[in-house]
Amino acid sequence: MDTTAKAHWDQVYGNRDEAELTWFEEMPEISASLISAYAKPDAHVIDIGAGASRLVDLLITRGYQRLHCLDLSQAGLDVSRARLGDKAQSVDWIVADVTRWTPDPGLYALWHDRAAFHFLTDPDQRAAYVAVMAAALQIGGHAVIMSFALDGPERCSGLPVQRYDPATLAAMLDAQAPGAFALVASQMHAHHTPSANTQAFQISVFRRVG
Ligand SMILES: C[S@@+](CC[C@H](N)C(=O)[O-])C[C@H]1O[C@@H](n2cnc3c(N)ncnc32)[C@H](O)[C@@H]1O
Repeated sequence: MDTTAKAHWDQVYGNRDEAELTWFEEMPEISASLISAYAKPDAHVIDIGAGASRLVDLLITRGYQRLHCLDLSQAGLDVSRARLGDKAQSVDWIVADVTRWTPDPGLYALWHDRAAFHFLTDPDQRAAYVAVMAAALQIGGHAVIMSFALDGPERCSGLPVQRYDPATLAAMLDAQAPGAFALVASQMHAHHTPSANTQAFQISVFRRVG
């Protein structure tokens, strides 16, 4: 595990209220709607870099029964666990660096990542991430990847990020795992931070095809 990155994120979640974080969403409706479009409530759904996101709350409310939340930061996941109370017991909480994680092969129908992948600025880390994603997703499963867009901020939480549009993201995935992922949908999104700044995101959906 990357202890420097882990310490950074544990400090972020330990020192600030979730609702003050620039990436906070009260109702992660775009994510939840996309997940509903591509995965049934009995499917295994994993949120990569879940942190303290309220997506897990929304998915539980909508009947999802096999939820997995993965994050480098124990402190981030603990915020969600505390918020959920007894409902947290139904969720699989995984503290791991996604680039070094070994998934159950082909278990997952849906891989969701909002603003975690874009922190991988090193090509070797990106290659490792794509290999893990390819191993985790069942054939016919989907990955929803949300990152800062080409005109989005250059940094997030004080760290540099790699920005994408759907085409550059698709090309990157294809270079790492040729023929494994097909881009099936994309949209742009303006996220409004708690301090009323606007951040340009791209949202891409890929199908695991081969
Ligand atoms: C900007 S936050 C977004 C959190 C959440 N997805 C949301 O939308 O609220 C990025 C998250 O990615 C996590 N993260 C960063 N690098 C990671 C890695 N290599 N493996 C797992 N999680 C990571 C951080 O701990 C943090 O919780």
